[in-house]
Amino acid sequence: MSIQIITADITGLRVDAIVNAANSTLLGGGGVDGAIHRAAGPRLLEACRAIAEVRPGVRCPTGEARITPGFDLEACYVIHTVGPVWHGGHHGEPSQLASCYRETMRLAREHELASIAFPAISCGVYGYPPEQAAPVALASLRESLVTTGNVRVLLCCFSDAMAAVYQAALSAAG
Ligand code: APR
Repeated sequence: MSIQIITADITGLRVDAIVNAANSTLLGGGGVDGAIHRAAGPRLLEACRAIAEVRPGVRCPTGEARITPGFDLEACYVIHTVGPVWHGGHHGEPSQLASCYRETMRLAREHELASIAFPAISCGVYGYPPEQAAPVALASLRESLVTTGNVRVLLCCFSDAMAAVYQAALSAAG
């Protein structure tokens, strides 16, 4: 089990899977979602459209995860997960965020992935304060890694400032 904090553009990482901070339609968006779709090419959107809706307009509910090929990306797979929108922290956001990491790691285990890179889920447009998201992410990953075994996990931040927040949380977790 290893968790490493890096600062990079997730779309260029040579890992088995990169994680997309998507929305529940899985039809793309801005932020890392937009970057991943641009880098993966149009086949990614086609693959997402083929994912069954669980209710009208929803292919992936908040806290769940879906896997597709990575197409033109370096990564073989994209695991799409939908983080919570921050509403102050008393509307189930921490458990929903923890579920994103848990469900993503479950798919990684099922697909026998050896390496996976996460962005800072919900810490952009969805407004989750990074100082509150980081401990939740790390606790959920540590819990998953107990059963997932030998997976290399990268937390891929898009700025050194964000990486410092996650590194501080990793160090605090001991
Ligand atoms: N590589 C790594 N991290 C990135 C990249 C990239 N290329 N681009 C953005 N990020 C970072 C952001 O800086 C932020 O720290 O990913 C983190 C998550 O931010 P968002 O992409 O805004 O994701 P989120 O906050 O979960 O909001 C999801 O935004 O793009 C839409 O369709 C998406 O509706 C969904 C919402």
